[in-house]
Amino acid sequence: MRTQVAIIGSGPSGLLLGALLTDAGIDNVILERVDRAYILKRIRAGVLETGTAELLDQAGAGARMHAEGLVHDGISLAFDGRLHRIDLKVLSGKHVIVYGQTELTRDLMDHREERGGKTIYDAQNVTPHDFGTVGAFVTYEKDGITHRIDCDFIAGCDGFHGASRKAVEDMGLSHFEKVYPFGWLGVLADVAPVHHELIYANHARGFALCSQRSATRSRYYVQVPLEDTVEQWSDDTFWDELRRRLPRETAEALKTAPSIEKSIAPLRSYVAEPLRFGKLFLVGDAGHIVPPTGAKGLNLAASDVHYLFEGLWDHYLEKSMAGIDAYSARALSRIWKAERFSWSMTSLLHRFPAHGEFDRKVQEAELDYLSHSLAAQTSVAENYVGLAY
Ligand code: FAD
Ligand code: DHB
Repeated sequence: MRTQVAIIGSGPSGLLLGALLTDAGIDNVILERVDRAYILKRIRAGVLETGTAELLDQAGAGARMHAEGLVHDGISLAFDGRLHRIDLKVLSGKHVIVYGQTELTRDLMDHREERGGKTIYDAQNVTPHDFGTVGAFVTYEKDGITHRIDCDFIAGCDGFHGASRKAVEDMGLSHFEKVYPFGWLGVLADVAPVHHELIYANHARGFALCSQRSATRSRYYVQVPLEDTVEQWSDDTFWDELRRRLPRETAEALKTAPSIEKSIAPLRSYVAEPLRFGKLFLVGDAGHIVPPTGAKGLNLAASDVHYLFEGLWDHYLEKSMAGIDAYSARALSRIWKAERFSWSMTSLLHRFPAHGEFDRKVQEAELDYLSHSLAAQTSVAENYVGLAY
């Protein structure tokens, strides 16, 4: 088989890139290790920047997001027993859209099927080859048979544990990493959200986040030690712990229901450099990870796709390599700013086991400064809604 762009991975980045390429008449094939149902069971991010929403529109897959997504003009930080609102709309002129990654992924998969885009699910041992030359190709196994796809370019959209970054590990790849000494326990439940906007709480017992998926579905998180397992956390234990970390009025308003999903995610900051190796590009989580505190993971995957799509468009429609040559530097410039923001929100809002009195006092001072300074709030707002592409 031959295609113009072989895309490894059918997560948000692979699907979004595939949708934009298909609409531009650029042939592409997606190779995915698992099946559609497995991907749609994963509960992950929930907040879209306007830039991400615009890309979804550009791909022609934004209708349900506009119909069902919730426009949020602000967020609240909770500390000192009360909520401190940051008005995103007033301070940045933009809003965010609360719309689950699962729904966005479903929309892009449906959009791809409608347009006849080719996705090969259950593709095992996907391996990029010869991407330093003009003869790039990808091999994979399916039903015991090895297949080969020849291509012009390979987009590595296969997440943090995928094959694409492994393929360039020995080619001068640099890693920058920070691992945090805690994780997030997340619970999804069919119950009305406790508050109309998101609440990020800093509490002596640890961080908590009240998020949502709709008027009847809530997503909550609490900071937990890395060693904790989901089995240790019954629903009742979770709800009790969440209540303890919220201001009294909010805790009293919290409605609970049986969890429909419960999982623990470790927190990590990671960047690989560069993001281009000849004809192979690292895109989204394949090239970088942020701790989830700033809601940036999915949105960064989308901005990478924007830069790569522009490069591929220039190549195929304008016969110019300028955009492809600039991909890694343009994407990394935005990635590092989101890394900084995600790290700073994580540092501000969590309890770190190694922190002493000095670190705690500095954290308190920063929260106090933020709650009184419009300049500090504007900086948070500008980053939260997403920096310009
Ligand atoms: P992925 O979504 O990881 O997609 C990669 C795809 O490639 C997957 O479908 C995978 O099956 C496939 N794949 C992997 N290896 C191979 C292979 N060898 N061959 C073929 N296919 C392969 N972000 C937030 O902003 N907020 C959150 O609350 C949040 N929670 C998260 C929880 C978890 C457990 C994880 C892992 C991430 C979370 N994120 C969160 C981050 C966000 O979900 C990611 O940034 C986003 O999914 C990145 O999209 P992607 O398409 O680059 O990668
Ligand atoms: C969600 C996750 C986040 O990491 C975040 O910062 C906000 C919302 C969510 O899953 O809804």
